[in-house]
Amino acid sequence: MTEAHDAIEVIVAKRDGGTLTDSQIDWVIDAYTRGVVRDEQMSALAMAILLNGMSRHEISRWTGAMIASGETLDLSGLSRPTSDKHSTGGVGDKITLPLAPLVAACGVAVPQLSGRGLGHTGGTLDKLESIPGWRANLSNEEFHAQLESVGAVVCAAGSGLAPADKKLYALRDVTGTVEAIPLIASSIMSKKIAEGSGALVLDVKVGTGAFMKELDKARELAETMVALGTDAGTRTVALLTDMSTPLGLTAGNALEVRESVEVLAGGGPADVVELTVALATEMLAGAGVTDVDPAEVLASGRAMDTWKAMIAAQGGDPDAPLPTARETHVVTAPSSGVLARLDAMAVGMAAWRLGAGRAALGDAVQAGAGVEWHARPGDAVSEGAPLLTLHTDEPARFERALESLEGGFDIGSAYEPTPLILERVD
Ligand code: URA
Repeated sequence: MTEAHDAIEVIVAKRDGGTLTDSQIDWVIDAYTRGVVRDEQMSALAMAILLNGMSRHEISRWTGAMIASGETLDLSGLSRPTSDKHSTGGVGDKITLPLAPLVAACGVAVPQLSGRGLGHTGGTLDKLESIPGWRANLSNEEFHAQLESVGAVVCAAGSGLAPADKKLYALRDVTGTVEAIPLIASSIMSKKIAEGSGALVLDVKVGTGAFMKELDKARELAETMVALGTDAGTRTVALLTDMSTPLGLTAGNALEVRESVEVLAGGGPADVVELTVALATEMLAGAGVTDVDPAEVLASGRAMDTWKAMIAAQGGDPDAPLPTARETHVVTAPSSGVLARLDAMAVGMAAWRLGAGRAALGDAVQAGAGVEWHARPGDAVSEGAPLLTLHTDEPARFERALESLEGGFDIGSAYEPTPLILERVD
C-alpha cells in the first residue's frame, strides 16, 4: 500500500508549531492503528502536541479519526431518547450507580460503557463487580435488549470502540504525555461519541483528588470537550465540580455500592444526592425531558426498582449481602473542634493502598476494602471519637494507608464552606 504521508513529515510539522492538515491527521491515526507509524514516532508526535497544542479544528478531526478507527453504536432504533454521563474521575465518585437508574426511571435510556479504575480513583465496573453474580461483559445484543427493557446499562466497553485511543492512551501513560488537553479531550470524547448517545453530560472534577487540580485547566478541558461533542452532533454540557473533598462518606467498591443504595432508598449523604440530581436534570434536559423532577423520582423509590432490574439483568443479586473486609482499623479524632478539611487525594490514596484499587492493569481489587469517614467538613468532631474507619482483607496494608492520611485532615474552629457545583459549561 502506498502511504499518503510519512510520520517524520507529520512530527516535524507539529514540532515546528504548524497546523496539521485533515489528511495528515486521518493518515497518522489510521497508520498508527495499522502499526505503520511506530510507537516511538507517535510518542514524539504526542509530545509535540503537548508542547505546541492543537486548534479546535485539529482536535475535532483527530477525534473523528479515532472514532473511525473502530465501530460506532447505533442507538437510533430505541423507543426512548438516550443520554449518558462521563466523569473525569474522583474519590468516592459513585454517582453513576444511583444516576443511571434514576435517569432511566425518568424515561431516558442510559447507555454507559465504563472502565475499570487505575490509581487512586475507583472504576465503576469494580464497584458493581462487588455485587454477587454481577457481570460487566455483555454482547451487543444483550446491551441493546437491556437498554430497551430496563432503560439503563452500565457495562464494559468492548475493544471495538476507538481502538486507536486504546493504543495511544497506553503510550501516553509511559511517555509523560497524558496531560495534554487536546489528547485528553479527544481520548474521552472519541469513546463517548462512538457510543452513540444522543446527549452527554460531563462531570469535570477540579481539586486535589482530580486529574485537573486547577479551575482554569478544568474549564479549558470542559470547553474543549463540549465543543467536540457539539461538532459531532451530540448535545453536550459540562459541570465543573469540586474534588478537593471526597464525595459522600465512603471510598471503596462495596462500601460505595452500599452508600448508593442508601441514596436510591431516599437517604444517603447530601452531597451525593445533590450531584446525582443535578447531573440527572442535565441528562434529562439534553434528551428533551424537562417535565419530570428527578428529586421526586428518587424520593418515590422508582429509581430503586430500576436499579434492582438493572443489576438483575446482568446476573447480580441486588438483595444479596455485600462483601465486607476481614479487618478494620479506626482512626480517632486527635482533638475536638470542626472538621475543617478532609483531603480527597489522601483518602483516595489510602483506599487504594488498602486494596480498593489496582497498581497495574489486570490486578485484582478487594471488594470490601476502602475508607469510611464519619464526619464531613463542617461537622463537629470530639477528641477520641471515630473519624475514619479503614477496611481491608490484609492488615499489613494499614501502615501504608495511615501514612497516606498523614496531613490529610485538619480539625479547627472555623470552616469555610465551598460549593460542590462550581460552573456549568455549554
Ligand atoms: N481518560 C481517558 O479516557 N483518556 C484520557 O486521556 C484521560 C482520561
